Amino acid sequence: MRVYFDNAATTPICEKAIEAMTAVMRETYGNPSSIHKDGRQARAAIEEARKTVANAIDASIGEIFFTSGGTESNNMALKCSVRDLGVRRIISSPTEHHCILHTLESLENNGVEICMVQLDENGTPDYADLERLLNTGNKKTLVSLMHGNNEIGAFLDLNRVSELCRANNALFHTDTIQTMGYYPINVERTKVDFLTGSAHKFHGPKGVGFIYINGDNVLKPFVEGGAQERNMRGGTENIYGIVGLAKALELAIDEQVERRAKIEAVRDHFKQQLLEHFEDIQFNNNAEDAVYKVLSVSFPPSPKSALLLLNLDISGISASGGSACSSGAEKGSHVIQAIKGDPNRKTIRFSFSHKNTLEEVDYVIEKLKNMVPVKETVVA
Ligand SMILES: Cc1ncc(COP(=O)(O)O)c(C=O)c1O
Repeated sequence: MRVYFDNAATTPICEKAIEAMTAVMRETYGNPSSIHKDGRQARAAIEEARKTVANAIDASIGEIFFTSGGTESNNMALKCSVRDLGVRRIISSPTEHHCILHTLESLENNGVEICMVQLDENGTPDYADLERLLNTGNKKTLVSLMHGNNEIGAFLDLNRVSELCRANNALFHTDTIQTMGYYPINVERTKVDFLTGSAHKFHGPKGVGFIYINGDNVLKPFVEGGAQERNMRGGTENIYGIVGLAKALELAIDEQVERRAKIEAVRDHFKQQLLEHFEDIQFNNNAEDAVYKVLSVSFPPSPKSALLLLNLDISGISASGGSACSSGAEKGSHVIQAIKGDPNRKTIRFSFSHKNTLEEVDYVIEKLKNMVPVKETVVA
């Protein structure tokens, strides 16, 4: 048996996305920039996909730009807002994905002021501290905060941050890479300046994503070349990827309620079984509103659990130590550090999809019994 509990790292691609992509691979080979019929067909497939994505978040078609994925989209939001919109100060958090943190480092080296908001014990930004930061300083400011944390599932109140940003004349970028397709997101109701998504997190293909850029923000090209993506990103479009992304997002939204119920059942059963069978279990986010597909579990120190990830893998279980980049290396996680997690405890991130089952949970629990301290059973 192989159990895949690493769906925050990536998700298996859905059959419908594969079908949509292979149809395009076979039949729609024109270059979308060519003006002949083959080119126009390819262009139409991309524009149809753009419409699907725009509808999914209630944006205008002209506000959606396809990219190579979440990393590029996040780079684009931060770098372009500094280069083109006069941003000189960015408020963010220490638990953002590395593609944000490393971009912030390079912007800081180029003179942009970076401020980090305080977090509570669950990793949620302290909204009063955010307000205080927004009230100080007179530089043009961008707030960049993720909607759902990929390691511990800390969840951001998008409306609240959006309103704070508006009240203080700041721009707002949110990384919705872990939440896109899992929660309703509507940019008509919740004003954001930039929002980013990545297909492989919602059962689409890898290497393709998108960015929503509010129409009020006029940016120069991020990748210089041809006039693709309305001049923002030169280069012949990844048409198969774009079509696959749109199909996967459409399904994720159509089936959002049912998928959520399945994932929550798996997560709740897992949580309950962990507490029942194992000693001194802690969860790295106890907030009611934690992202439902992520469960970050902290096991007590024990010689047995030293090579926990490796032993899980050998037993047929894929999970992660933190984000995917550090999952193999078992490096300490910057997120656990930021919420002051005990470095001596062993943190494993289990993350679920609607394809997981309660039987898989039972299998993982049985295997864990040989790997981490179990509760003593009281003999009557
Ligand atoms: C929160 C978050 N942001 C950004 C990324 C990067 O996305 P991509 O893998 O599409 O570059 C990821 C994926 O690991 C993520 O979880």
